[in-house]
Formats: sequence, C-alpha cells, structure tokens
Amino acid sequence: MEKILDLITRKMRQAFADAGYDPAFGRVTVSNRPDLCEYQCNGALSAAKQYKRAPIQIAKAVTEKLDPADYSLVEAVMPGFINLKLSDEFLRSYLEQMRTAGDFGVEKIGAGKTIVVDYGGPNVAKPLHIGHLRSAIIGESLKRLYAFLGYHAIGDIHLGDWGLQMGLIITELQERQPELCYFDKDFTGPYPTEPPFTIAQLEEIYPAASAKKKVDPDFAHRAHAATFALQQGRPGYRAIWQHIMNLSVADMTKIYDRLDVHFESWLGESDADPYIPAMIEDMKAKGLTVVSDGALVMPVAEETDKKEVPPCILVKSDGSAIYATTDLATMIQRMQDFHPDKILYLTDKRQALHFEQVFRAARKAGIVKPETQLEHVGFGTMNGKDGKPFKTREGGVMRLEQLLADMTAFVRAKVVENQIVADEEVDATTDTIALAALKYGDLSNQPTKDYIFDMDRFAAFEGNTGPYILYTIVRVKSILSKYGPWEHLSVQTPANGYAKDLMLSMTKFGPTLEAALKTSSPNLICAYIYELAGCVNKFYHETPVLKEPDKTLKAGHIALLGLAKRLLETSIHLLGFCAPEKM
Ligand code: ARG
Repeated sequence: MEKILDLITRKMRQAFADAGYDPAFGRVTVSNRPDLCEYQCNGALSAAKQYKRAPIQIAKAVTEKLDPADYSLVEAVMPGFINLKLSDEFLRSYLEQMRTAGDFGVEKIGAGKTIVVDYGGPNVAKPLHIGHLRSAIIGESLKRLYAFLGYHAIGDIHLGDWGLQMGLIITELQERQPELCYFDKDFTGPYPTEPPFTIAQLEEIYPAASAKKKVDPDFAHRAHAATFALQQGRPGYRAIWQHIMNLSVADMTKIYDRLDVHFESWLGESDADPYIPAMIEDMKAKGLTVVSDGALVMPVAEETDKKEVPPCILVKSDGSAIYATTDLATMIQRMQDFHPDKILYLTDKRQALHFEQVFRAARKAGIVKPETQLEHVGFGTMNGKDGKPFKTREGGVMRLEQLLADMTAFVRAKVVENQIVADEEVDATTDTIALAALKYGDLSNQPTKDYIFDMDRFAAFEGNTGPYILYTIVRVKSILSKYGPWEHLSVQTPANGYAKDLMLSMTKFGPTLEAALKTSSPNLICAYIYELAGCVNKFYHETPVLKEPDKTLKAGHIALLGLAKRLLETSIHLLGFCAPEKM
C-alpha cells in the first residue's frame, strides 16, 4: 500500500499541476502545528519566487484543485501555507485497506533480496555474559524487521569456535588426564561418543587454563601449539573440539531460547577456515598485500581518511590467521552459500575500526560484489547505575544467565504480589513480562548509545516500558474477548477526536518500520508503539466501548481496538517479545 504521506503528496502534486504550477512543489509533511492541522504543504512559498506571484495566491489556487472529499480542512493561510486535515471518510477507507491487506499493506521493500544478519557471536566454552546481550537483542529485532519487510533474512550466530580458548582447554585437559585416548598419537579410534567432561567442568577448565596461560609461558606455548594442531586437523583434538561444541552449543541454545532469539545458521569461525589459504593466495596474486614486521597485511587507508586506518592484518608473523582473516573468509562462504545482497553485523561499537578495515579489504579483494551492502551496527555499552559497565556485586563480569535470573526474580515478586494470575501460570507470565522488560529497556535506546540498566524502571508497569505496552495489549484483548468475535468488523469513520488520533497514529505503522530498517533503529518502533499505546488508552478511557448502546457505533469502536491489538502485537513481535494472556 502507498504510504499515507506519499498518497497525500501525490494528490497535492497533481493539484499544483492542475493549477498550472510545477508539481515538484507539492511536498506534504506531517504538521509541526498539530493544534492547527494534521498535514501541511509549504510549496507555495518556494513556488512564489519562481512564478513571481504572491504565495498566498498560489496556495489558494492549489487548494481549489484538491478534492474536497479527502479533507475536513483545506486552507490557505498567510503567507502561503496550505493546512490540511484528513476527512473522516479518507481515513476510514485508508485504515480499512490496512486492516484487510496482508501485513497491514506494508510495502515489501526487500522482496527478492537476501540479508545475512551476523549477531550473537558467542564464544564456545565460555559462558555468555552481558556483553553478548545487546547483540542478541538488537540483532534478533533487526532480523525480524528485515524479514517482515520482505527480505529473505538469515540470522547467523557466527560462533567463536576456533580460537586459542580451544587450545587452552585441550592443554589443560591433557595436564589433568594425560591417559585419555585423545592425547594418544597412536590411537586409531573410534573416539568415545560421551565427552570426558560436563558443561560445569568445562566452565571451570577454561578459566583455570586462561589464568595459567598468563603466568606459565610454557603452558601458553603448548596451548598455542595445540590450537595450531587442532586447526591442522589432529584427530584426537578434533574429537575433543567436537565434544566441547556439542556441550557448549546445547547450553547456549537454552539461553537463546529463553531470550526468544533464534538463528537460521549455526556456522562458526571454524567453518571459515577452509577458505583462508586460497583467499590469501588470491590477495597476494592481486598484489594487494605487503609484508610488514613479518606479518602479511593489506593496506586499506584512503586519501579521504580523517583518521588513520591501519592496514588489515591477514597472517601474523607466527603464521596464524586472526579475527579479520576469519571475517573475510566468512564473507566468501556467505557469498557462495547465501548470495546475500547485504550483510549486517552487530557488535560492540569498539569494533568499528575492525569492520571498517574488513569491509575495505573485502571490496579491494572483490570478495563481495560492488553492490553488496556491508553494514556494521556498533552498539553502546549496558552500564550499571554508576554509569560504568554493568558488573556483578563482586565486580566481575555478569553472566547472562544471572542477569536473566535477577530480572525474572524481580518481576516474579510483582506478579505474585499483585496476584496477576493463578498460581500455575505465574512462571510463564513472569517469563513473558521479564523478557519484555529487558528487551524493551534495551531497544528503546538508540543502539549506538550507552544506557543504564535499571531493573526498577524497566519492569515498571507504567511509563515507557515493555510491561506498559504488554498491559495495554492485555487490556485490549480482554475488551475484545468480552465483545465476542471481532475479526470481521470493518473500520468506521472516527467516532470522536480520540478515535481520530488513534487512527492517524495507526497510519504511521509502515513508515515507522521502513525508517527503523533504514537507520537500523528498533528504538523508532518502541517510540511508535508507546505513542500508539497512549492513543489506545486515551481512546478507551474517553469512549464508552462495551457500554455503547448503539450496536453499529460499538462495532466501530471494537474494530478499531482489534486493529490496534494486531498492530501492537506485530510490533512487539518485531522487537522480539510477546504478550501474556493476563496481566
Ligand atoms: N565472538 C566475538 C566476541 O565475542 C564476536 C563476533 C562478532 N561477529 C563477527 N563477525 N566478527 O567478541
């Protein structure tokens, strides 16, 4: 469906043309004086110079060409503004089309296009910590938004499964249990199907090894050698690696499920490895690389750079590939397997330079097509109330599981205290509300900004919060269910000013989604549903709905609330959470 502003603008351009003026002057905007009008056009002021005529004359002539059925107010005011209010019928018909069209008639701007969203990025064998939270929350939301707007969207978790942490675990395990068959070079297999450790042991082994590496150079050396041997494919090490993967992936799946975050692709850094040798050869052959201090690098600086962009390091002096190498090789794999038109990366904004280097290197080496879009969304830090990165009470890095548990306990107390649901529903309702509180608290901030994690504020049932939005939806659902079947009811002309405000707000749904996608800003969706929820509550507060004696009028109210419910539910789905039945 045509966006409402485009529709009004198209009609305005026609009116300019019909009055003998250049249609380019017919641009309409949402009014910045809502007390006077809903939309405005200032084109007559600009046209005046070109046509050497008083702007008010032009504005008057144009207004006479507009179809009066479309507006309840069309006025030319000094010095030459055109003020508009939509007619009740225009709005009714537009919203009825939205109601009956699939997905509210939003334009599928991504039809036929594929996007890979690289988010999550957890490291295998290390517990997920809050540093991974924003990537998961923002990434899931953007992926759902792209999919809703017609893209074939592939979420790729890009596991950190190939680095030194693997060599550290292998080396530590060998110290503890040298008799295991994995370390016996003469062992010909098959290796046991059961892992030699539990996930809890694994989570103890890794930090122990990591600490040892710092104080014991020999241990560090052996861990590097083990990493190298693993990457060369030593069978016993590969078997341990597989055990680590199985345990760790099962464990992280639990947390991502709890976050309602799901990946279409579970590839990792290890999957990029096979592409590295040929990629490096190709870059060398193209003359793009130089050797610097024993390392192979690709200069990527450009003349227009305002700050220094150092060369992209491809192979370190010890022969190992690094983070950038893996990201480049991953692009080759993605281009080959997924043919994306765009790749979107979500990481902490401190990685901005890394992605700038990688993107430039990819373009120089022709890894992506010139028209393939590459975008890095670098997000800010989640801080504690002291304004510093969020920590545990002991000052350590907060595990994601812990944060979720704290939030859930906090919400649970409210659910129990306010006797919101029957005992057997407390857990499910709590989980739903806690997730909304957490995700909305995060997503309502512009991604690039740091924000303060404030459980009290995020979980409040009033104000600009997830629970408030859920509360509005639950309230509407309850009205609808008291009414009975409502899905077939058509939108009617606005019954009062509150209804009209609500309807005007509804028309902004599609444009908001497009703007959120174009600027990678789910916060625009949050701001929108906060406005929409406000209009819904105002309308319901000021209008007797279920008590309305006139059946037709009542059906109109209900139709409007039904559409509001669908719009709100779809919006929160795009943010990555859903509403409970009762609250
Ligand atoms: N595993 C990395 C980390 O924990 C994040 C990976 C981000 N994605 C990427 N393609 N580099 O820091």
